[in-house]
Amino acid sequence: MSKKQKLELTWIGKDKRPRLEPRILLEDKALSYRADDPITSVQAEIPFAGQDNIPPKFSHNNLLIHGDNLLALKALEQQYAGKVKCVFIDPPYNTGSAFTHYDDGVEHSLWLSLMRDRLEAIRTLLAEDGSLWITIDDNEAHYLKVLCDEVFGRGNFVANAIWQKKYAPQNDAKWLSDSHDHILIFAKNKNIWRPNLLPRTDEMNSLYKNPDKDPRGLWMSDNMSVKTYSFATDYPITTPSGRIVNPPSSRCWAFSKDKLTELIADNRIWFGTKGDGVPRIKRFLSEVQNGVVSKTIWLREDVGDNQDAKKEVKEFNNISVFDTPKPERLIQRIFNLATHENDLILDSFAGSGTTGAVAHKMGRRWIMVELGDHCETHIVPRLKKVIDGEDQGGISKAVNWQGGGGFRYFRLAPSLLKKDSWGNWIINKAYNAEMLSEAMCKHMGFQYAPSQAHFWMHGHSTETDFIYVTTGSLSHDQLKVISDEVGNNRTLLICCKAFMAETSAFANLTLKKIPQAILNKCEWDHDDYSFSLNVLPDDDASETCEVLKTSQVLGDSQFLDNEEE
Ligand SMILES: C[S@@+](CC[C@H](N)C(=O)[O-])C[C@H]1O[C@@H](n2cnc3c(N)ncnc32)[C@H](O)[C@@H]1O
Repeated sequence: MSKKQKLELTWIGKDKRPRLEPRILLEDKALSYRADDPITSVQAEIPFAGQDNIPPKFSHNNLLIHGDNLLALKALEQQYAGKVKCVFIDPPYNTGSAFTHYDDGVEHSLWLSLMRDRLEAIRTLLAEDGSLWITIDDNEAHYLKVLCDEVFGRGNFVANAIWQKKYAPQNDAKWLSDSHDHILIFAKNKNIWRPNLLPRTDEMNSLYKNPDKDPRGLWMSDNMSVKTYSFATDYPITTPSGRIVNPPSSRCWAFSKDKLTELIADNRIWFGTKGDGVPRIKRFLSEVQNGVVSKTIWLREDVGDNQDAKKEVKEFNNISVFDTPKPERLIQRIFNLATHENDLILDSFAGSGTTGAVAHKMGRRWIMVELGDHCETHIVPRLKKVIDGEDQGGISKAVNWQGGGGFRYFRLAPSLLKKDSWGNWIINKAYNAEMLSEAMCKHMGFQYAPSQAHFWMHGHSTETDFIYVTTGSLSHDQLKVISDEVGNNRTLLICCKAFMAETSAFANLTLKKIPQAILNKCEWDHDDYSFSLNVLPDDDASETCEVLKTSQVLGDSQFLDNEEE
């Protein structure tokens, strides 16, 4: 039987997929900021509210997560799958450069694998009417497009917008002076996703005048002939001055004779100030769409460039300036097109935190993930200034930003299981009872929501199905007491060290041992899935692929792009 073939991008290591551990997130309260501010503390949906649950961990909407984004995206999956309206990412472009805050050179196949795994996780988090926007340059753009086609489906490709990232030509460029980045846009489902219109600018509105003092207000005139030829609308028109005008050759008028008579009677046809001109249709400002459709070329005067972005971030950290930020206006355009107020936005390559800053000022909710220490040294101070209303740079003035809101700072918990000195998997000693309970809820598909009233109620999967997690061993008598309390109308999954009873002894209890119950669910104690891995996915790949070393590539084009021009 012949193997079915399909058009696909292949690379070394493509078939290797990480089996990710769904980690819990630990809040670092010292770095969270005004998390209890009433503006941000909108309660997340609690599926079975009314119980005496402690408030859900993410009751505050804005989250900054310090850690590897693949593990972070997995950590977010349970609570946020299908809820994110817009993902913007600006991943390392794989230029081979070594920036101050992160390295940007991994072997090409490895880059594709790293991106594929993240794109798949992002797709899971996106809402059905959500969209993904990725900035990228020519190093990987075209491979990334094909990769996204595979993950999102080619039919969900929306556009490749071109962003003019710099103005000055790079006269020492060996080949061409690269002055743009790509913005790849994919919809989760293109059949239902539609971009918003962009706000009309004063410049656009200035084209509207009112030379005949029409009481309907400002208007501009538009061509009245069309290309699609129809004999019926190819007729001569007599202007008020008596001149006969025909449509240009091989074109015809946009309206029938009757319709034109109606429009003339309504003073909607313009024959020029002397009544002698080729007829044109009047388009009133009050009748045009309340915005404009975005084009795919985005100029620096409209959305800013690398130099603007550098100036913006210098305001937050002038000593160790972040190398590759994006301008706030660029991100604002994306959110104008892809989101509405209060929508949830995710950026899993946060860098200096531009996405969060812009989302915050635009009244959107946000989640950002950043692996580097600049999460703390750059993003936190930037967002604090935004929240305090002290940041009047970027888009602040345009949106009249006055401050407000807050965010919570999280780190990924360590692996739940560790090997002991005998090579056996045991519960990580860094886990206390609450962390273990929360982690087990995640692994077993339960919502963590411990009850004050019932010691065995640690979480739920439905209104009547609960989970209890303990490192203790439970005797038959103890299980009997719990079973009686659970009663006939509820069920309980018990995850414990050991139990002294037949697994089928109590109809309303399911008994599982830790860690055996979860041993094969994922790979354990694997912390680094990051882009800083300069290793190949396959041993034999080393013959075919060359690992880029930072020393060989300093002076690369993207590095220069991000320097002051
Ligand atoms: C080009 S920068 C993003 C810049 C950002 N758009 C801004 O305006 O500041 C890419 C960022 O991705 C981060 N990064 C790279 N690998 C990562 C990973 N595995 N998890 C989380 N962040 C990662 C880098 O540390 C870097 O800060």
